[in-house]
Amino acid sequence: MTSGAGYRVMTQSAEETFAFGVELGRLVQAGDIIILTGDLGAGKTQLAKGIAQGLGITEPITSPTFNLMLVYKAADKTLQHFDLYRLEAAEQLDDIDYFGCLESDAISLVEWGDKFSQALPEDYLEVSLDLDLSGNARELGLNGNARELDLGGAAELGEATPPAPITTRNITVRPFGIRATQLKERLEAQPNDPSSAS
Ligand SMILES: Nc1ncnc2c1ncn2[C@@H]1O[C@H](COP(=O)(O)OP(=O)(O)O)[C@@H](O)[C@H]1O
Ligand SMILES: [Mg+2]
Repeated sequence: MTSGAGYRVMTQSAEETFAFGVELGRLVQAGDIIILTGDLGAGKTQLAKGIAQGLGITEPITSPTFNLMLVYKAADKTLQHFDLYRLEAAEQLDDIDYFGCLESDAISLVEWGDKFSQALPEDYLEVSLDLDLSGNARELGLNGNARELDLGGAAELGEATPPAPITTRNITVRPFGIRATQLKERLEAQPNDPSSAS
C-alpha cells in the first residue's frame, strides 16, 4: 500500500469477490473506467463477472485473454472488457482503437491495464487484487501439526498432500481523477459490509 486514500476490502472466497463486484457494478456510471491489477489467478475476471452482474448484464462473462476485448450489452449500458495480458507492445492498442473505446460512453474494465504506462487513461479507478499470503501462513500455522503427521504417513506411501489454495484476497481501490474519486466515494457511502476494512 502506497496510498492512505485507498478503500480496502478483504474477501475470503471467489463468491465474496464476485459479491463485491456486484456492489461496485451497481455504482458505476457510463464512461467509467476500471483498471484491474493483480497476478494471474488473483481474481480479476471473477471481479469483472460480479461487476457485469451489477450492471445488469445477463450474458455469461468469459475471460478476454485471447480476444483482447469482449463487449456486452445491458438494457441501457455497454460493458467493454479488456485483457492486455497477451499484448506485446503498447502500439498494438491502436489496432483496437483502445483510447477511442475508453472515451466512449461504455463502461470499461481492463485486466492488466497497468501493463504499459502509456496505456493508462487520465481518469480511472484502480482495483488491485492480491493474494493474502499472511492469511495463508496463518492457515498453515493452524494446520501445521496435523499436516506434519499427515505428511509422515503420506511420505511412507510416497504421496504428498497438496497445499490448500489461498482463498483470501486483499482488494484495494484507488481513484485517479475526479470521475474515479466520485465512484470511490459512492462505494464508501455504501452501508458497511463486515468484510471491509479501511
Ligand atoms: N477470494 C477470492 N477471490 C477471487 N477468486 C478467488 C478467491 N479465492 C479463490 N479464488 C479463485 O481464484 C481464481 C481467480 O481466477 P480469475 O478471476 O480468472 O483470475 P485473474 O483474472 O486475475 O487471472 C478462480 O479460480 C477463483 O475461484
Ligand atoms: Mg483474467
